[in-house]
Amino acid sequence: MPGGLLKMACVLYPGSFDPIHNGHVELAEIASDLFDEVVVAALVNPSKGDGLFDLEERMFLIGESLKHLPNVRTTKFNGLVVDLATEVGADFIIKGLRAVSDFESELQMAQMNTALAGVQTLFLPSASRSSFLASRLIREVIKLGGDVSQMVPELVQKHLEGKS
Ligand code: PNS
Repeated sequence: MPGGLLKMACVLYPGSFDPIHNGHVELAEIASDLFDEVVVAALVNPSKGDGLFDLEERMFLIGESLKHLPNVRTTKFNGLVVDLATEVGADFIIKGLRAVSDFESELQMAQMNTALAGVQTLFLPSASRSSFLASRLIREVIKLGGDVSQMVPELVQKHLEGKS
């Protein structure tokens, strides 16, 4: 895996993570290889509803799902992502892109965050085998009694069982 200058960087990987799925885990693993320190944060997305898990549960499930990555830590935050980026000393925000359809809203958020605080966002492509994964669909499948065990970490699967 490449090292160099990026190895000096601390990056913030924000998201709703409601819940974390295998696509998120994969992106965190890539980021863990690329950067010195990765902070994965569960945040509120004001344009989404209440959610399935509260922020505390989401942070717990993120932490457990990523505990094999020594340079990754987990937090939660209810506020502007740029304020959290400042708080944790992040050099960049990172986001995963699954498809072109993600790009429009992600670009707009990245530009807003740059306008608010000068922070830049780096986009990382998700691997094609997980590009269909979305927390929204995981929640929907679970509510309707489907099986997502191949799409989420084992512990997340266990916590989802109580929600169907
Ligand atoms: O996983 P998501 O829902 O795509 O993540 C979106 C999230 C949580 C990163 C975004 O909604 C966010 O940054 N929320 C914090 C509030 C904020 O900073 N809003 C302005 C963003 S331009």
